Amino acid sequence: MKLCIDIADVEQIRRIYEYFPVDGVSTNPSILAKTGRGPYEVLKEIRSIIGAEGELFVQATARNAEGMVEEAWRIAAELGDRTLVKIPCVPEGFKAMKQLQGEGIRFIGTAVYTAMQGWLAAKCGAEYVAPYVNRIDNMGFDGVQVAKDIHDAIVGSGYGSFSGLLAASFKNSQQVLELAKYGVKAVTAPPDIIEGLVKNAAIDAAVDQFCADFQGLAGEGRTMANI
Ligand code: G3P
Repeated sequence: MKLCIDIADVEQIRRIYEYFPVDGVSTNPSILAKTGRGPYEVLKEIRSIIGAEGELFVQATARNAEGMVEEAWRIAAELGDRTLVKIPCVPEGFKAMKQLQGEGIRFIGTAVYTAMQGWLAAKCGAEYVAPYVNRIDNMGFDGVQVAKDIHDAIVGSGYGSFSGLLAASFKNSQQVLELAKYGVKAVTAPPDIIEGLVKNAAIDAAVDQFCADFQGLAGEGRTMANI
């Protein structure tokens, strides 16, 4: 399963990339707005941090298909071919996806709250489908289950060779683990959720005890490298 960071703050992206096995960065217009910077300026800086190989997700903002298609070409031209255009799964979005299919522009279906939206995006050729797990939970439904249903619909329809989940909007690391166990294609989560995957007092206590025992044996500041 690929792991992406759902943020546009370049310092946080640098920090998480340094410590965790991250495959890409996802953004949306609200995430970009939080930076207060020019969208292409910050996105180009993110591209320089993650390198040409990292996947970068950038959302189209037009309300009609023609505008979304125009944005898709501009986004790809500005940010490289490992950039995927996020297209909302609404009728105009599906129309845009149908136009982009086979044109060499990579795209994903976003703003997904129902399994049928996800299935339609995959049928339109979307490489990923992004269900909003936490937002679905907040509507009184089961976000993880909706994500699993989309995964099953994609695989069951024979689209699994080119499409899969980029599950998004997480409120805790358990939701991420649930989808990892299910074998989904990718998740994207903000830094606190990624760090939460290993935030545990028992882990810290165990590592502290090992260090203390070793230094009691070999001397303060000693490690296996300098004894
Ligand atoms: O990009 C969409 C998704 O990440 C939304 O997350 O936390 O705003 O529900 P959130």
